[in-house]
Amino acid sequence: MKLDRRAFFASLGGAAAVASMSDEAKADALERYLMAQAAPPPSTASTGSSPGAAGPSSTTRFPTMAELDAQIATRPTRRGVGNLFAANQGNVAHLPPMPEKPTLVDFYRLRFVATSNHCLQSANRAMKNGMSEEIILACLLHDTVQELIKVDHGWWSAQMYEPYVSEKVAFAIRYHQALRFYEDKEHGYEYPDLYRRIFGSDYRPEPYIQRTYDMVRKHKWYIEPRMVTVNDLYAFEPNVHPQLDQFTDIIGRHFKQPKEGLGFDGSPVAHMWRSIAMPDHPL
Ligand SMILES: [Fe+2]
Ligand SMILES: [Fe+2]
Repeated sequence: MKLDRRAFFASLGGAAAVASMSDEAKADALERYLMAQAAPPPSTASTGSSPGAAGPSSTTRFPTMAELDAQIATRPTRRGVGNLFAANQGNVAHLPPMPEKPTLVDFYRLRFVATSNHCLQSANRAMKNGMSEEIILACLLHDTVQELIKVDHGWWSAQMYEPYVSEKVAFAIRYHQALRFYEDKEHGYEYPDLYRRIFGSDYRPEPYIQRTYDMVRKHKWYIEPRMVTVNDLYAFEPNVHPQLDQFTDIIGRHFKQPKEGLGFDGSPVAHMWRSIAMPDHPL
């Protein structure tokens, strides 16, 4: 997918603002931008392109921490806020009601509006590449928690899915966030030129990401999150919209749908599902 670099930079407040973001925040911002562009036209306006994109040219300069702080205070919401909780532009829209006992499929159809196409594309890619069903499921789920919260989404997402999927699937989801910053040509993952071109050559993951990578690299399940990053990378295809039906059997075999409905099964993460189902509850 071709990246409109100028529009991307403008959407974040300009090249200086981008250069001043933390490494992790930069990568997340790019992912969100591409995800928004890949999403089908939603009922509320939310394309990734910025209106009147007239930001500075792509000449990169790395600003100071003071400039980064100043950028934070120019926005009404923080960058890590979930998709459901802030409109890209204008106001948020009314959401359709959820069934009494919502299933994972209900969440895809009614709440995972901003993230579902990206995740479906990723799972579709994994399926075409002959991945295991667990990796395909991990790809299908990996970024959906961004409807609730974006910051540290790998960890949040794994936590939200942990009661319902195998340990291996949760592992793959949790650690894809860290692994995407580290090349592994042997397994078909090259550090994307896209990141290098946009973020510059001095990109360095934050220490907690580095420590996580060091641990996962030696882990017996390393290949699981690695394959999520491999299939994630090429999933940003603007005119490809795989359908959830394609994955119904895999969900049925590997996702333990609670009979009470997600959010109402008394699990330690039920509140996360309720928060996605009812984001307009004030307290
Ligand atoms: Fe991700
Ligand atoms: Fe992703």
